[in-house]
Amino acid sequence: MSNQAQILTNKDIEQLLFQIREKNKRLAITGILLLIQGKFVQYIEGKAPEIDKVYEKIKHDSRHNDLVLLDSGDLENRQFKNWSMAYKKIGDDQVKAILGHTALNLDDLFLFPKQEKTHPVLKVLYNFTNSLST
Ligand SMILES: Cc1cc2nc3c(=O)[nH]c(=O)nc-3n(C[C@H](O)[C@H](O)[C@H](O)COP(=O)(O)O)c2cc1C
Repeated sequence: MSNQAQILTNKDIEQLLFQIREKNKRLAITGILLLIQGKFVQYIEGKAPEIDKVYEKIKHDSRHNDLVLLDSGDLENRQFKNWSMAYKKIGDDQVKAILGHTALNLDDLFLFPKQEKTHPVLKVLYNFTNSLST
């Protein structure tokens, strides 16, 4: 999860996705990038050495900052095997719908840096992902 360094235009996003997808295809990395309230929330999967290399690159990319690693681990099967990087901009209404209209104040959505594994944006990411496969 990270903050956009500056507001990216649609063209900037297109260019970013083009660059990401080209490289991910070469490295057999797959995943999804969400844009929520001007923040990036990304999930990537692949062989550990490739993931580590790309993650190092992503960490030092000046297009974003305040990067937080929310979770990582081993996985039996890929969740996005046909996507070199899916992308979706998620609006506030959709976030509320995904979170089941809980009392969560959207202004607080990103204020949980110390509770990475239970961070509400992970719930948004996982619920959104599940909704794609049902
Ligand atoms: C939010 C965000 C997500 C990114 N995700 C990826 C990614 O999944 N794969 C990737 O190769 N680069 C990704 N990048 C771009 C990398 O930071 C880097 O620019 C890219 O890997 C090209 O590096 P290179 O030309 O030095 O090889 C991402 C950048 C940002 C800002």
